Order: sequence, then structure tokens, then C-alpha cells
Amino acid sequence: MSVGIDEISFYTSNYYLDLRTLAEVQNTDTEKYYQGIGQEKMSMAAPDEDVVTMAANAALPLIERVGTDSITTLMFATETGIDQSKSAGVYVHRLLNLHENCRVVELKQACYSATASIQMACALVARQPDKKVLVIASDIARYDLDSPGEATQGCGAVAMLIAADPRLVEIDPEVGNYTEDVMDFWRPNYRTNALVDGKYSTKIYLKSLKKAWQHFYEASSLAFNDFSHFCYHLPFSRMAQKAHQTLAKFNKSGLAVEQLEQQIQDTLHYNKTIGNSYTASMYIGLTSLLENCTENLANSRIGFFSYGSGCVAEFFSGRVVAGYEQFLHRDKHQQMLAARQEVSYDEYLDLYRYPDPRDGSENTIEAKTSGRFRLTEISNHKREYAAI
Ligand code: HMG
Repeated sequence: MSVGIDEISFYTSNYYLDLRTLAEVQNTDTEKYYQGIGQEKMSMAAPDEDVVTMAANAALPLIERVGTDSITTLMFATETGIDQSKSAGVYVHRLLNLHENCRVVELKQACYSATASIQMACALVARQPDKKVLVIASDIARYDLDSPGEATQGCGAVAMLIAADPRLVEIDPEVGNYTEDVMDFWRPNYRTNALVDGKYSTKIYLKSLKKAWQHFYEASSLAFNDFSHFCYHLPFSRMAQKAHQTLAKFNKSGLAVEQLEQQIQDTLHYNKTIGNSYTASMYIGLTSLLENCTENLANSRIGFFSYGSGCVAEFFSGRVVAGYEQFLHRDKHQQMLAARQEVSYDEYLDLYRYPDPRDGSENTIEAKTSGRFRLTEISNHKREYAAI
């Protein structure tokens, strides 16, 4: 029996800032963003959106297709938590009308926790193959204004159904892990924006890649040239290019730069215009590959490198299932991205600065999202959500 990803669907906000606009205001060359970090646009969450509404929006198409009966666990991966105690997933459980016997838990380790969720979900399904686990990763990436990280903001959520005999990607049991206590990126509880040592974070990312790969290589019978495509954690798309070149060199792959580019380029389309969505980003990259690659990927082997600052990293592998293309949500995703609204720099600042009360004050939130769920108010210290 194989276990893996049976459905995948993502959501991002209906607002974006073109990085050309940011470059103009900052008097920076646009090519620094378009080429240097490989990003063109970044999604900005609407005032009435948060990780809960984005998660419910991501999962809705999947629920509409497969129903709720077989889902026995919801795992919610995020580093944009809204509560220190209650899982954001419990709100999503209600918004999606999941079964009262479905367990819910929230997981955190920077951008890595969606991968931890998937591995745990695979183990649960291996134990009870008739059950399915809904894994949702949802995040809003925020850095200080005028900091080097500003151009790498973004937001998004991805929902995946983990099941036996999956229709999209079988996940192999062998993994390579690497953990090290480092301060490359973190967000203390009193801050809304992450702190980051940007250059150091890219070095640790690449070191973790080599370490996790080495561990994977010892555990698996697969070698670098057994993979046709690679999905990397995508803080910005140039990072994946650097990572892939590093891994190819480490393995003495002998592949030309163009061949290496071809192995990752289709994973980058969506993220280039969404920005970093932390836990969700690698899996939005996988969706981009499955939905945009013109060659048939059936039976192709995909390598995954998941990285969460702090840091925990994992390399694992998957095999694309024949017939996968019938079970995607390609049109829905592409229509959602095409319908987004560009904002001016001032509108971007308004979205960035929209009050996010941390002091318990009352707040009625204006209706702005074009999604199907919204945060309506914060009242008596409670977040109120509604389906539209
Ligand atoms: P920076 O320091 O302002 O940029 O910000 P830079 O000066 O290094 O330039 C970036 C690239 O643009 C360079 O290319 C320049 O040469 C090039 P490289 O040397 O890297 O190949 N460039 C140009 N190219 C064409 N035309 C031009 C031009 N000018 C310059 N005119 C930095 C970069 C990554 C530091 C910043 O964006 C940042 O701090 N980002 C946030 C941290 C981050 O994303 N780190 C990634 C690894 S950590 C991670 O992935 C985890 C994370 O997702 C969090 C989590 O796990 O939860 C972040």
C-alpha cells in the first residue's frame, strides 16, 4: 500500500504589490527583485483575512470534491499563530463543517511544520488506511518596512489530503533530517514581524540542504540523477536556484545549468507572484509543478527539500501517480491569480498597517476579501469568523 497526497489546493489574497512599485519608491533597480531574488509580486492579506480564513479558503474546493466523512484528523501548520492555546484549526473545523469526531492540532517549526504534518499524517494513514488526514499550511510573511526582507513578504495557504493509494503523489518512507539551534530567523511573541539575519539564513539553508540530503542518501536507494524534478522551500525563487546548483555540485551530477533549471522552473511560477507563504510555500511550488509542467509527470520521482529557520530541515522523495492531471484544481487556481487586484504603494502601506489589535481592544473589520470566509470582528477577546 502506498500513502501520499490525494488532493492539493491553495489560496492567496486578492491583493498584491508589484515589486516594480516597491523598487521605484525605494529607488532600487527593479531587476534586483525580478532577477536578483527572482520575485515579481507579493500577495498582501486583506484586513479581514488571517491564517484561519486563508486555510478554509484553500481547503474548500477539496472538501467540495471529496466530502468530510473520511477526514479523521486536521493538522494545521503555521508560524502566524493567532492564539497561544487554541489551535487555529478548530475555527477551520467549524467553517468547513468537519465531523465532530475529527481531531485537530496546530504544529509549529517555522516553514518546516507542514512537512512534519505530512509525515505524521502518512503514519496515521498507514495505521488506518481507510482514514484521511487534512493537512493545511497557512502563513502571512511579514518583515519590517525598508528592511532587506521587505521584498520577500507574501501570504498563502495550501490544503492537502493525505490518503492511502493517493491520486497525486506517493510519499516514500525514507527521509533525511537535519536540526541545529541557530538564530537565522525568529519572531518573539511580542513582535508581529519576523527578525532575520538574511545572509546568514541563506547560508544555513544551504548547509541544511547538504546535511539533510546526506542523511537521505544514506537511508534511501535513490541518487540525485534518479529525480526528474525538485521542489525546494521557496522564501524567494532565486533561493531554489542556488539550492539546486549547490545540490547538483555536491553530487557531481554532470548536468548543464539549463538542465538543472528545467528540473525546478515549473515549481516557481505561482510563488514568483505570491511571495513567501512560509509553511505553504514548498507545497504551492509542488502545485505549480503539477499544474504547469507540459511533460507528463506520471511515475516521475520528485525530490523535496523542506526548510524551517531555527532550524529543522528534511529531504524526502515522492513519485507522481499516473492520471494525476485529472485531479488538480488548475483552472480555479489560475483564475484566482488572474483576478487579483494590484495595489499602489500607499494602499500597500494601508494593508501593512491595518490595525491588528494585540491589546484586547474591540475591532470591527471592514469587508475586503474576495474569499469565501472572513474575519468579521474581534470582540470580548474572541475572533469572529463568517462564511460569505
Ligand atoms: P539583500 O541583502 O538586500 O539583497 O536581500 P542582495 O544585495 O544580497 O541582492 C540579492 C541578489 O540580487 C544578489 O544576487 C545580487 O547580486 C542581486 P546573489 O549574489 O544572491 O546571487 N542583485 C541584482 N541582480 C540583478 N540586477 C540588479 C541587482 N542588484 C542586486 N540590479 C536577502 C537579500 C535574502 C538577505 C533578503 O531578501 C532577506 O533578508 N530575506 C528574508 C530572509 C530569507 O528569505 N532567507 C532565506 C533563507 S531562510 C528561509 O528560507 C526560511 C524563511 O522562509 C522563514 C521560515 O523558515 O519560517 C525565511
